[in-house]
Amino acid sequence: MTRLSAITPSDRAQLGNHLGATRRWAREGSPDDLYFVSDLHAMTVAYNPVRLRARTNEMLAVLLATGIAPEAVFVQSALVRELGALTWVLECTCSFGEASRMTQFKQKADGQSVVRLGLLTYPVLMAADILLQGADEVPVGDDQAQHVELARDLARRFNTTHGEVFTVPRAVTPATGARIRDLADPTRKMSKSNPDAAGTVFVLDEPDLIVRKVRRAQTDNLARVRYAPDEQPGVSNLLEVLAACRGTSPRAEAESFTAYGPLKDAVAEAVVEELAPVRTRAREILTDPAELDAVRKAGADRAAERAAHRLASALRVAGIG
Ligand code: TYM
Repeated sequence: MTRLSAITPSDRAQLGNHLGATRRWAREGSPDDLYFVSDLHAMTVAYNPVRLRARTNEMLAVLLATGIAPEAVFVQSALVRELGALTWVLECTCSFGEASRMTQFKQKADGQSVVRLGLLTYPVLMAADILLQGADEVPVGDDQAQHVELARDLARRFNTTHGEVFTVPRAVTPATGARIRDLADPTRKMSKSNPDAAGTVFVLDEPDLIVRKVRRAQTDNLARVRYAPDEQPGVSNLLEVLAACRGTSPRAEAESFTAYGPLKDAVAEAVVEELAPVRTRAREILTDPAELDAVRKAGADRAAERAAHRLASALRVAGIG
């Protein structure tokens, strides 16, 4: 059984990535799993190449610091040629309507004067990531589940049209922590690229900064601690974060609090405790660029070797190559 997933170095890793995705990759890891830094996905909007390289390395260090085995990690662009080839094949399997219906595309394209074509086709590249490696399960947060559905549809359609080449993957989301919201504006999800960083806890934030961000989290004036995401999004988000850190459930956590102050203190403490070892370890890893390069190189070789035969089969049955 192969699990595969990735994180995009569009900015620094945040708490939602950690609780919704990367922490699970480390915990549920098995020898065939693959987790990567999807640097090609960071090119769909304007970006700085020097910063992209630095963020990619930092993200790789964060994955290792989270506890993912060095044998399981790689950087996506190591496979840029293979992925370019398969993406084209899958773009010719995907309809314009399907791609343009993706929620994330609609949100990110909304209000932009220039929309890169890559923003539209990025879920197809993501399908190529998944199908190239024959992944069975794709552990992601809620916001990526629709893209994994598209990968499923494309795998089935390709297999029916040309012959059985691809494993049909499925998304796996966690019961708690699948959609962590922004602390300053709990109507939107926490994201690396929110313009206002006050509501985003970054994995590498110092403890006192984390405490300040949590203390300033938006709540409401209902003065009761209940898990009711629609009615009390801010309080419910804090309960969700606490439950995800402690491995409990948000409803159970709600019973231990009657006021917002103590809830925030408990959340701040739990998040600091959760992220401190990752921060310390990532810092150490980043002081040894040679070791990080070696991990990167070995990961690239492994991923390319695994991908080769499936790409060859896909091209052959598609009548090309
Ligand atoms: P990315 O970098 O946006 O997010 C990485 C992972 O973190 C999850 N996540 C969250 N989970 C809970 N709460 C949040 N607020 C939150 N924000 C993000 C995401 O669901 C994701 O699992 N396109 C992908 C990366 C990718 C990929 C792939 C994933 C590239 N190829 C192949 C799976 C398989 C992305 O940009 O994720």
